[in-house]
Amino acid sequence: MKQPGSRDNSEQRLKEQTMTQQLTFVILSNGPETFRELRGALAEREGARVLAGGDDAEQVMEEIKRLRPTAAIIALSSTPENELRMVARVAAECPRTAVICTSRDASPDLILRSMRAGAREYMRLPLLPEEFKTVYDRTAEFCAGQPEAPKKRGRAVAVFSSKGGCGTTFIATNVAAALNAPTVLVDLNLQSGDLGLFLGVEPKYSIADLIENRERVDDSLMRSYVAPHSENLALLAAPREADSADDIEPEHVFQVLELLRERYDYIVIDPQHTFDSITLAALDQADEILLVLTLDIPAIRCTQRALAIFDRLGYPRHKVHIVVNRWSKQIDLDLRQVERYLGERVMGYVQSDYRMAVNSINLGQPLVESEPTSKIATELRQIAAHFSLTAQSAITTELRRGLLGSLFRREKAVEKTVSSELSAIS
Ligand SMILES: Nc1ncnc2c1ncn2[C@@H]1O[C@H](COP(=O)(O)OP(=O)(O)O)[C@@H](O)[C@H]1O
Ligand SMILES: [Mg+2]
Repeated sequence: MKQPGSRDNSEQRLKEQTMTQQLTFVILSNGPETFRELRGALAEREGARVLAGGDDAEQVMEEIKRLRPTAAIIALSSTPENELRMVARVAAECPRTAVICTSRDASPDLILRSMRAGAREYMRLPLLPEEFKTVYDRTAEFCAGQPEAPKKRGRAVAVFSSKGGCGTTFIATNVAAALNAPTVLVDLNLQSGDLGLFLGVEPKYSIADLIENRERVDDSLMRSYVAPHSENLALLAAPREADSADDIEPEHVFQVLELLRERYDYIVIDPQHTFDSITLAALDQADEILLVLTLDIPAIRCTQRALAIFDRLGYPRHKVHIVVNRWSKQIDLDLRQVERYLGERVMGYVQSDYRMAVNSINLGQPLVESEPTSKIATELRQIAAHFSLTAQSAITTELRRGLLGSLFRREKAVEKTVSSELSAIS
């Protein structure tokens, strides 16, 4: 027999960890008596929590998928085929959830069938305290030994202007749609967000609901809080009632962005037009800031001031990209003059086309989707291409087709980057 002193450290650590661990359970019972017995036994264990339970296999399966508990306890009846099918489904669809079968029947045949279906443990009913303890401890060890799933880290892009009306919401929506990868658009206009209209969706939930439940968010809960617009694009809406926005603090924005980064390739943020604490929290954490302006003196001044504030906040200049919206040949100011004035290169521009912009907003469809071959859509896709290889590949395809030859002649540099980036990954 091994002496305690001879155990290696990692085994010891695992044991200590399992003693203090929180374990969560979902129970499929057959009748209230079984449920009471299982719940009673779990209630005596510190750290055990029953999240849901019932007799309906389909409903309980949905709860397991939604809540991802440490373990699913499945009671087998005298005709166990249906329950054994559920054991197999949990093992296949939720491999991090341990399946524990329990039954009044302790025949080797039934135990073997449950193990073959994917159960990790088996407990006899009525429960025997020693057996229950062994199964509980082994489940805790299984849970502690699970490797952490590698976390995804999406890129956060904030589209900002300290002056309203420059078209930040319009640009944020279109860039998000053009990214061509799993993207979530976050409406941080907490008092009066209307991004649902731009995307033609009616959100049931908002960022306030996500914040309220942030401690227990998993993939399926997250999916229920966002409103899907297309296969790749979803919206995390602003609260419908302005009141619920009052409780939102800057650290909540930080936590929400972390949760979103784990699940989406891109997080496109549409903040307010002020330097309030919520907006600053978002700008701080953004990997890129698109600073949007129009070619009029007030907007150019605001942009110059915003750049000075960014400098003071210590944002590196490579994080900030100037985008000129509503550009037109008829405006006397040319882009080079603006660049000289701001001391910063203009990364992209979007021409003025009020009819098209308003039609797309009224349609509830980003212009890159409703008018994909228009010049304005091309300009918007070009901005997205600065962040995304998938968006870049869409542009190179267009270039190959020769649709945009003349428009892109000035943008040879971008094209070169695109081809070298693409050859680097192929
Ligand atoms: N490139 C453009 N050409 C013409 N109109 C535009 C363009 N971009 C935005 N607009 C219009 O400007 C108005 C303000 O846009 P919006 O995105 O709501 O601005 P912001 O979010 O900065 O306040 C909208 O009516 C929109 O249709
Ligand atoms: Mg807006």
